[in-house]
Amino acid sequence: MEIITALDFDSIDKAKELVNKVGSHISYYKVGLELFVSSGPAIIDWLKSENKKVFLDLKFHDIPNTASRAVSAAANYGTDIINIHTQGGKEMMTKCVEELQNQCSKKNMSKPLLIGVTLLTSLDENHLQEYGIHDFSSAGYVLKLAGYAKECGLDGVVSSAKETKVIKENLGKDFITVTPGIRPAGADLTDQKRVVTPKDALHLGSDYIVIGRPITAAKDPAGAAELILKEINE
Ligand code: C5P
Repeated sequence: MEIITALDFDSIDKAKELVNKVGSHISYYKVGLELFVSSGPAIIDWLKSENKKVFLDLKFHDIPNTASRAVSAAANYGTDIINIHTQGGKEMMTKCVEELQNQCSKKNMSKPLLIGVTLLTSLDENHLQEYGIHDFSSAGYVLKLAGYAKECGLDGVVSSAKETKVIKENLGKDFITVTPGIRPAGADLTDQKRVVTPKDALHLGSDYIVIGRPITAAKDPAGAAELILKEINE
């Protein structure tokens, strides 16, 4: 299992400062909407020049043509993980997979992992009820969306670690799970609802855990990362 640290900052300078502070403890970073909209692709170039891996978390959700072209553009930056919304529909997911494969073989590039967002970890069953989805638990709904993602050729899904086990049992251990909503024991939940500790995520079978504020908002980000790694490895 690998830790991906979420660089949820509003400027490239703040993101670089955090990466420099964390140092060699973390080699995978997530560039999300706020940072990408503020800094553009420069942050990806910089992370690559520092030999870091990049998860570009822009959660594309649009008509098939638009979403698949955005996926191709994202791959051109040399990203390692790209994501799209599973709720964008099967046609959209399939087209994204095809475009990405075509683009990577045409340009002889290694193919980034294409991951589907299922149900955001800030949402739970109350949200499903409110939106009229009465027949599903959050795990059941995530599994349904993950099944569609697999059917369309995606490499895996973003979900809560609470759903990793059921996803792996039903869709196979090679179907990747990227799990945010991670909080070390005793940490502030902030806006996350379906949280899991790093150690539990490991036991549940997550391939990648995404950790933001427990590292980025810590007084000593390197120390926080080190503690989490120690917890996972002991
Ligand atoms: O600070 P925190 O650890 O809550 O950060 C989690 C990161 O994972 C954020 O960047 C958030 O956008 C992202 N994320 C999430 N839930 C999802 C997909 C992505 O929390 N389902």
